[in-house]
Amino acid sequence: MIDYNSFPNPSYIIDESLLRGNLEKIKEVADAADVEIILAFKSFAMWKTFPIFREYINHSTASSEYEARLALEEFGSKAHTYAPVYIEEEFEEIMRCSSHITFNSLNQFNTFYEKTKAHGISCGLRVNPEYSDVEVDLYNPCAPGSRFGMVVGQLPEELPQGVEGFHSHTLCESNSYDLEKTLIEIERRFGKWFYQIKWLNLGGGHLMTHKDYNRKHAIEVLKSFKARYPHLHVILEPGSAFTWQTGVLTSKIVDIVENSGIKTAILNVSFTCHMPDTLEMPYQPEVEGAKIGNQGPFVYRLGGNSCLSGDWIGDWSFDHELKIGEELVFQDMIHYTTVKTTMFNGIYHPCISMWTRDGKAVVLKRFNYGDYLGSMC
Ligand SMILES: Cc1ncc(COP(=O)(O)O)c(C=O)c1O
Repeated sequence: MIDYNSFPNPSYIIDESLLRGNLEKIKEVADAADVEIILAFKSFAMWKTFPIFREYINHSTASSEYEARLALEEFGSKAHTYAPVYIEEEFEEIMRCSSHITFNSLNQFNTFYEKTKAHGISCGLRVNPEYSDVEVDLYNPCAPGSRFGMVVGQLPEELPQGVEGFHSHTLCESNSYDLEKTLIEIERRFGKWFYQIKWLNLGGGHLMTHKDYNRKHAIEVLKSFKARYPHLHVILEPGSAFTWQTGVLTSKIVDIVENSGIKTAILNVSFTCHMPDTLEMPYQPEVEGAKIGNQGPFVYRLGGNSCLSGDWIGDWSFDHELKIGEELVFQDMIHYTTVKTTMFNGIYHPCISMWTRDGKAVVLKRFNYGDYLGSMC
C-alpha cells in the first residue's frame, strides 16, 4: 500500500510492484502467443521508469519525431513509428530513431520511401478494416470518414515494392473477443496481401491487464492466427494495458462552496489540466473512500482549480462531511495523464513520483515556474 504521506501533494504516484505485475502479465502473453508486445508512448512516457520496462519488453511505438527520439535515447531501442502524416523537416530525425515506419497513405509512402532505403527501415502501410467495436467516436479509428489508414479498395493488387508490413489499430480498452472479431475482419479484407508482407501490427487497445481480460483466450486467438500465417511477425502495441491500475493522483481540498444546494469541494488539482480524459471521454474516476453517485449521506461535486467553468465532475458520496485540508486520492491516474497534462492557467503541476517495490517514496519530477515559462515565450 502506497504511503501517501511520504509524497508531496498533489502527486501522481506510480506503484512499481503493480507496474511489474502488469509487465509480467504482458510478457506472459507475448511469450505464450509468440508475438511481440511493445509500449505505446502516447499513453505513458515517464522515461525514468523505462529501465523497468526494458526488463520485460524490447521496443516502443512513436507517433512523432519527439517520441521516436525518446525511444532511441531513453528506451534504448529504435521505435515502431506511425503518424497520420510526416513532414519533410522531421523525417530525417524520424528515420534516425525508427526501425519501422508505417505510412497512413500511399501518397505518404511514395513521398518518403526512397529516403528510408539508406537506413534499413522496414516500411508498412496502415490499413483500415472499417470495423471496430469502439462505441465512442472520439476513440474510433474506423468510424465512417476516418482519416486513418487505407480501406481495402484503395490497395493495389500488388503492393508497392518496399511495403513490408500492415498496421491496423481498431481497439480501445477492448477484450480478447473484440480482438478475435477484429482479426477475422482484418483477415477477411486484407488476407490476400499477407503473403506479400512480413509483419502485421495489431495496434493498441488490448486491455490485457484488466481483471476480466481473458488472456488465455487472447493467446489462443493469436496462436491460431500465427498457425495460419507462420511467416508473419505479429506485433501488438497497447498503451493503457501497461499502466492500467498502477497508481493514483493525490489531491487536497482547498475550499468548499455551495450554490443552488450543490456543494463543491475545490481541489488543488484540475480535471482539465491533470485528468483530461475524465472530461474528454468522459468518465467519472474512482476516489478512494467515496462512492460514485448521490446516494449519500454526504454528497459533493469535486471541482478543479482552473477557471474553466466545466472543470468539475459530480457526484460522489462520502461517509463523512468533507473538511478543508483533507486529502482525496483519484484512482488509476497513470495512463493518458502525465502525457496529456497542461499548465493551462499557469496552474501548479502535480509532482510525478514512484512508490518503489521496497517501499520507498521517490519524487521523479517536481515542476516549477521554469517549466511553465519554458513551454511558452
Ligand atoms: C496507433 C495506436 N497504437 C496504439 C495505441 C494505444 O492504445 P491503448 O492505449 O488504448 O492501448 C493508440 C491509441 O490511440 C493508437 O492510436
